[in-house]
Amino acid sequence: MRKRHGRYGFDAPWALAGLLFGAAVLLALAVLSFTLDILPAGIAFLFGSLYTLASATSYVYTTRRGKFAVWAEELERLEGGERLLDLGCGRGAVLLQAARRLERGRATGIDLWRSRDQPGNGETVTRTNAEAEGVSERVELVTGDMRDLPFGDEAFDVVVSSQAVHDIPAQDGREQAVREAHRVLRPGGLMLIADFRHTPAYEATLRGLGVVDIRRRDAGWRFWHGGPWLRTEILEARKPAA
Ligand SMILES: C[S@@+](CC[C@H](N)C(=O)[O-])C[C@H]1O[C@@H](n2cnc3c(N)ncnc32)[C@H](O)[C@@H]1O
Repeated sequence: MRKRHGRYGFDAPWALAGLLFGAAVLLALAVLSFTLDILPAGIAFLFGSLYTLASATSYVYTTRRGKFAVWAEELERLEGGERLLDLGCGRGAVLLQAARRLERGRATGIDLWRSRDQPGNGETVTRTNAEAEGVSERVELVTGDMRDLPFGDEAFDVVVSSQAVHDIPAQDGREQAVREAHRVLRPGGLMLIADFRHTPAYEATLRGLGVVDIRRRDAGWRFWHGGPWLRTEILEARKPAA
């Protein structure tokens, strides 16, 4: 994987803080149990603390390295001239990796820059990252809602999204985002959505729109957010050619 020059932060750091807090509380309970000579409880709390710490480590790995590695492989299929759209691009983890490959193309990122989902989020941050990665001239950033995309029909060859559609709280809102992604994709175009929730529903929405070429696959341990109970799936769909 190529060295990164931008600053990409942590996804949802409140989740990481929760894991670290949990590990600390369990460790304190283990120490207390050992001090009071309650050996079985002490051992159980100690294992719980180590397990929670391992989860936190997995979370940090995914958000700092793993997701970049998985997307690097997914984006290998780009040919270099595509018009690509990233829904909920955040600081540009996926968008700017794609832009590096699009020597003749264009990478557009849309986001509402919600700091709850990715702290320090903002168009200027992503623009600075694009400059640091040397791809600024190929990158367009748009402030907007993925449920109501400000782009024409069939404007993109590729639509991607990573851990962003689930941030829309209501099911009909997520469905609307998938419909919009489908609308702006050209016939024969490729859609890749990585998410740890709701991917079967995204697939159902696309099938309802007449898309038949759809696959969902496990992104593997590099995209766990804490452990195997929070796995990421990648939905890959090809819009039927006209
Ligand atoms: C967890 S971050 C992931 C960012 C980036 N895709 C990545 O993998 O690093 C989710 C992003 O989705 C954005 N987002 C959430 N709801 C959105 C919406 N309705 N329209 C556009 N962006 C949205 C947030 O602002 C945030 O930047």
